[in-house]
Amino acid sequence: MPLQNINPTETTAWDKLTKHFNEAKNYELKELFRKNKNRQDDFSILLDELSVDYSKNRITQETIDLLISLAEEVQLKEAIEKYFSGDKINATENRAVLHTALRSSSDTPILVEGKDVKPKINTALRKMKAFSNKVTSGKWKGYTGKSITDIVNIGIGGSDLGPKMVVEALQFYKNKLNTHFVSNIDGDHVSDILKTINPETTLFVVVSKSFTTQETINNANTIRDWFLKSATVFDVSKHFVAVSCNTKAVDNFGIDKKNIFPMWDWVGGRFSLWSTVGLSISLSIGFDNFKELLRGAEKMDDHFKASDFDKNIPVILALLSVWYNNFFDAETEMVLPYSEYLEKLPAYLQQAVMESNGKDIDRNGNEVDYQTGTIVWGGTGVNSQHAFMQLLHHGTKLIPVDFIGFKEPLHSLEDHHEKLLANYFAQQDALAYGKTKEEAHLDLKTNNQLNQINKLLPYKVFKGNHPSNSILFKKLTPFSLGMLLGMYEHKIFTQGVIWNIFSYDQFGVELGKELAQKKLIND
Ligand code: F6P
Repeated sequence: MPLQNINPTETTAWDKLTKHFNEAKNYELKELFRKNKNRQDDFSILLDELSVDYSKNRITQETIDLLISLAEEVQLKEAIEKYFSGDKINATENRAVLHTALRSSSDTPILVEGKDVKPKINTALRKMKAFSNKVTSGKWKGYTGKSITDIVNIGIGGSDLGPKMVVEALQFYKNKLNTHFVSNIDGDHVSDILKTINPETTLFVVVSKSFTTQETINNANTIRDWFLKSATVFDVSKHFVAVSCNTKAVDNFGIDKKNIFPMWDWVGGRFSLWSTVGLSISLSIGFDNFKELLRGAEKMDDHFKASDFDKNIPVILALLSVWYNNFFDAETEMVLPYSEYLEKLPAYLQQAVMESNGKDIDRNGNEVDYQTGTIVWGGTGVNSQHAFMQLLHHGTKLIPVDFIGFKEPLHSLEDHHEKLLANYFAQQDALAYGKTKEEAHLDLKTNNQLNQINKLLPYKVFKGNHPSNSILFKKLTPFSLGMLLGMYEHKIFTQGVIWNIFSYDQFGVELGKELAQKKLIND
């Protein structure tokens, strides 16, 4: 069954939220905390080793209650059931959306067109495990009998961003293989990588769900030509493997059938790192760690399916995002991971969020007359504090922030971590509470700048009242990363349901491809 087509702006909850906003737009975070001493506890959710504190948002319990009514009115509960049980909710492509099945450890069958998909998933996982073990143990030999030292993932979009981000995020857990990623059609990308690798000891993983993506096929051809300068066609099977739905095209490319890792059309590219698309992750950190990543995501899936909306992390984050996007007219959201290893998270989320919810036609086929997908951007804390955070503190735009942190470090430099966390919390406080005129006045006085007060005072005041969420894990592990990514996937889903759009197609990227193709033919 497809999702219901309910225009959110025609619900009673939307009407009430619009009225409520007239008062809520004047909420001051400082004041809200002063009035309710339990505010932090009231607006926090714990799940395993994750705590999400959303108290620094311009909301009261009434706001949350109304937002939850909105979720109920658009039948979010029923939508979640359809999402997990393989209904074809990607109606424009006539497909189910089942990345959650890839990490499900339950024995309950998940049916697509009457067939259980679990056995296929388990077979693919076994194949990934055996292959990863063979390569990482050195048993898989290249054409001159040497073990593999380098992996090159050739893919773009979802066949690149997810694996690349996770491999970098979990580098603490990595083995001795070096992993590289080629995506751009810009020849500099592939050329630079080819300079650093040895064909005798490199394994190429060509990742393309469709196996028709121009950039990927082009890069794969260039790499194969380069490889064949030192090896023969009979050596290709020792060095090239593919991940794809399109086995025929892989076969035509010349990759051995044994070396094909299957993928399915019910896994969207931008949600595919949990599938065989994650092969370079499994090679880089080992299959056991890859399974931990899946386990973490499954933890979030179970939480999302079973928790009441007021205690449901992805639902609350999605509703807050709708609140700012549709009522405060916020255009963007920021993601600030306080971990250098998560540097690629914003870019990964940009595809996940913006390719999914950047839609202007609703599920009835009508143009929407309200805002949908948010723009996501960000960088790592604390580097961002020394770069663009000035605009959040003193700029004119409202930009809600997700602060992502880890209580424990992966290294032994305790003082570094202490300072990192101090900054993590201090930024949230600075954004929320700002600095009053009186406080700024006192600072200038203390700093012996009394003679400058009149001139400098206005510039030293921080209005504050900038919303943020604190998403704090115990430690960066494959499990916690799985939870984090699952959380954002379900936030995206929830927003798509509320906005009455189709989150799982991406027709918007086609026109540019088409025109580029025409230009190539005509020139
Ligand atoms: O052009 C966008 C897109 O279709 C993404 O959605 C997808 O992740 C990417 O291209 C790569 O597609 P494929 O895995 O089929 O090569």
